[in-house]
This record gives sequence, structure tokens and C-alpha cells, in this order.
Amino acid sequence: MAQFVPAEPFDLVIFGATGDLAARKLLPALFHRFCDGQIVAGSRIIAAARQEYSSAQFRTYVIESLLRTLDAETTDTTQQHDFCALIEYVSLDFTDANGWSALRGQLSDDNGRIRVLYLATHPKLYCDIAGGAGHNNIVNQHTRIVLEKPIGTDLESARAINAGVGQVFAESQIFRIDHYLGKETVQNLLALRFANALFDPLWNRTAIDHVQITVAEKLGVGNRGAFYDQTGALRDMVQNHLLQLLCLVAMEPPARLDPEQIHNEKTKVLRALRPIQGAAVLTSTVRGQYRAGAIDGTAVDGYQTELGGDSDTESFVALRADIDNWRWADTPFYLRTGKRLQTKTSEVVIVFRNAPHSIFPPDAGTIQPNRLTIRLQPNEGITLSIMTKEPGPGGFFLRALPLDLSFAEAFDANYPDAYERLLMEAIRGQTALFMRRDEVEAAWHWVDDIIAGWDKHHAPCQSYVAGSWGPPGADELIGKDHRSWHCEPCA
Ligand code: BG6
Repeated sequence: MAQFVPAEPFDLVIFGATGDLAARKLLPALFHRFCDGQIVAGSRIIAAARQEYSSAQFRTYVIESLLRTLDAETTDTTQQHDFCALIEYVSLDFTDANGWSALRGQLSDDNGRIRVLYLATHPKLYCDIAGGAGHNNIVNQHTRIVLEKPIGTDLESARAINAGVGQVFAESQIFRIDHYLGKETVQNLLALRFANALFDPLWNRTAIDHVQITVAEKLGVGNRGAFYDQTGALRDMVQNHLLQLLCLVAMEPPARLDPEQIHNEKTKVLRALRPIQGAAVLTSTVRGQYRAGAIDGTAVDGYQTELGGDSDTESFVALRADIDNWRWADTPFYLRTGKRLQTKTSEVVIVFRNAPHSIFPPDAGTIQPNRLTIRLQPNEGITLSIMTKEPGPGGFFLRALPLDLSFAEAFDANYPDAYERLLMEAIRGQTALFMRRDEVEAAWHWVDDIIAGWDKHHAPCQSYVAGSWGPPGADELIGKDHRSWHCEPCA
């Protein structure tokens, strides 16, 4: 059973508190942790944004937001009101050096108290906010700053953010969020690899043929079109979520479950990624953009109709990544992610090598390589496909069957979602589930080459029908290596 340990009382400031992220993720996450007793009386949430609200008006807005996102059975009005009693609102223009005294006035004068500044704003404001907090005596050794991804739009802008924030905060005080690292099964990857001796001798090029990482969404860009069109799937998903998954699959075992050691191992993987430069982008990557189609039988618009204009931004990427080290030489990692795909699924598939020789007659059927599938969502769990003999007389026929472990069934537990976990980790000062500066920069370094190659070689954006599995180029990318995509929900 999950055990919820209360956190020490804290002051949490949410910058950009009237935005979409606060309404959809942060406030519901804090409410859940409050209901489970992890956020204790005396803790305070200070909501800061440019809009003019009174605290009472903002609390009404919070309740409306909670009602939109919570299940009917969790909407206990007493709990909502008790939760809202922790919240104060401060109107603040983050770029105005004079506006900070009201915020400072809301914070406890106790210098030993935990203070968390959560930046749910556009990244271009990160340095201003860090600087404002520094000038206004908000930062002490117990202050932490949480930065939402994206940290910049390329290596140069990421370095500028890291340097600006780093002038005010020590690296141990900076929490760069990639919410995939808070997902239960992502952490289970560590347990799977490092708590099961079974896998250790197999986790390398001699036993593994290749690895596939798929993050597929049914949603389109919706009302985020303006942001998304400047970003695209490579920057929005690959630079962070998919590369973080790749790192956890590929990294060497750290000696201890210690944040610095985990960051060190992940950074080594990112630095070992073979650059995809110049014309190689045309053979190692595929860009796609959805056109009108249907999801679950309902007609949906294409990307450009949703956006309301012409665009060449990719809503889908597939690529082949190679890790140039001893463990993974000649063992490609195929990554794909897209919006408006057939189903929502995130999974890592480890495809093992073929059996070296078949002792069975040809009519027994083909021996398929074993596959270990780690499902992040939905239906978190792990499946190992193994070859079996079909029972009964009449000949020897082989069939692949899954050994299936569903975490929901095995643990019968409702665990906190990624934001809930990450917020509590930031409050507690645990950095293991966040990204270190050099990790973010190494990921941008690799992604920047791809973007430069796309620009230089006018990499085409292939159209795909909403509700499909992406453009034909994605199948061709993996098909030319005599492999094909696996996907449990579509099997
Ligand atoms: C975010 C991206 O980081 O992750 C979104 O900006 C994407 O575009 C989202 O929809 C996907 O997260 P999840 O947890 O729903 O898989």
C-alpha cells in the first residue's frame, strides 16, 4: 500500500497561477496531496499572476478549476474549502522590479521554512522571475525553484536560462521538471533493471536487437496551437520525454540510487548519442503533420484547420537513434511520437534477438523474437512475450503468448499522478526525478543538429490521417532495417 508521509509546512508560490498548467495539473495535484494528508495545516500556497484578482475571487476560480478536473466522488466541498484556505493571491507583473513587495509580504519570515517557487510561465520569463526573487530577498538556502519544460527552444536559449537562473540559485536548488520522470512505470524501469538480476546479462547488444519508444496521443493541438506551432513534436516531446526514457533504458547502473549518480549516468548516454547531422536527417528522421480524419469514429480537423493557418510544423516525429558505446553498439533505438494518432499509449519495447537456430519443422510456425514491453500508460505494467507450444495433439505449433503484469491489478492501489509526486519531491528537496543542467543541455545539443539538418535540407513534413499511426515514412524508416513497429494496444 502507498504510504503518504506528510511534508513539513512550506510556502509554495505558483508564478503564472491563472494559466492552463496551474488549472489543469498543479492545483488538482496539490488538492489530492492535501486530501491525502501530505500537505499539513500551516502550509501556504501563494498564487501569483498579472491579472487583478482578490484572494477570494481566486479561490472561487480554484474551486471551478477543481470541479472541471476532479472525479465527482472526490469533490468533497469541505475539503475544497479547507484547501482553498491555504491559498492567497498576489497580482504581480514579474518583469516590474517594483511589484514584488506584496509577494514578499505574503511569505513567512521564518528563514528555516521551505519555500518553493514554481514557474508555470513562459520560459522567457524564467530569468526575470529568478532575478526578481533574488533582488527581493525571497531566496535563501531553503528556497527551491521549479522550472517547467521546455527549458529554452535550443541549446543557446537553454544555456541562457540555466545561466540566468544559476546566478541566483545553486544547482541543488533548481528543479527542472519533466513530468514523465514522475510517472509510476518510469520509476519502475529502475526497479525492473536494477532489482532483477535476471535482466542484467541480457541488457545489451548481445541479447537485444533494438529498442522502440512510442509516445502516442489522440489529442490534437487544441487551444495550444500558437505555442505548439513555434515548437513542434521534436522540441515538445523528443528533446525531453522520449530522450529521458531512452536514458533510463540505456544508462549504466549507478552505484546507488543517488540523484547525482543517476544524472551522471543519464548524461553519459546523451553524450554518446550519435549526432544526426546534415543530409542524414533525411534517412534517420521522419516529420509528419495530421490532416483531417477520425478518432474513435468521431471526425476531427487537420492540424492547419485547428491552428487556423498554414504551417510546416511537425505534429509527429519518428527517428532512429544510435548510442555509440560498448553496451549499445549496433542496437538502434527507434523513437516515435505524435498527436492525433489512433490511440493514447506510451510504451518502451525491448525486442530481443532471434533464436539462433530453429529445431522445429517449418510448419510449426515462425519463432518470433521475445519482446519486453514496459507500458507507461494506460494500464501501467510489463509484458514479456514468449513462444509456447499450442496445447493438444495434431502437431507441433508454436505461438507467442504474453506473460502479463498489470500494476493496477497487482497492487490494487491508486497512486499519485506524476505532478503530485514531483511537487512533493520538490517540496522535500529531492532532485533525483528532475533534470540536471548538463542533461538538458546535452539533449538540446543532439536535437539542435536535427533541427539544423531539417532546415538546411528542407526535410518534408509528410501528411498523415488523424486516427492513423502516422505517415508512411515512419514505417519505411524502421522497415528499411527489416524491422517493424510494435504496439500492444494495436496488436
Ligand atoms: C507535454 C507536452 O509535455 O506532454 C504536450 O507539452 C503533451 O504536448 C503532454 O500532450 C503529454 O503528456 P502525457 O502525460 O499526457 O503523456
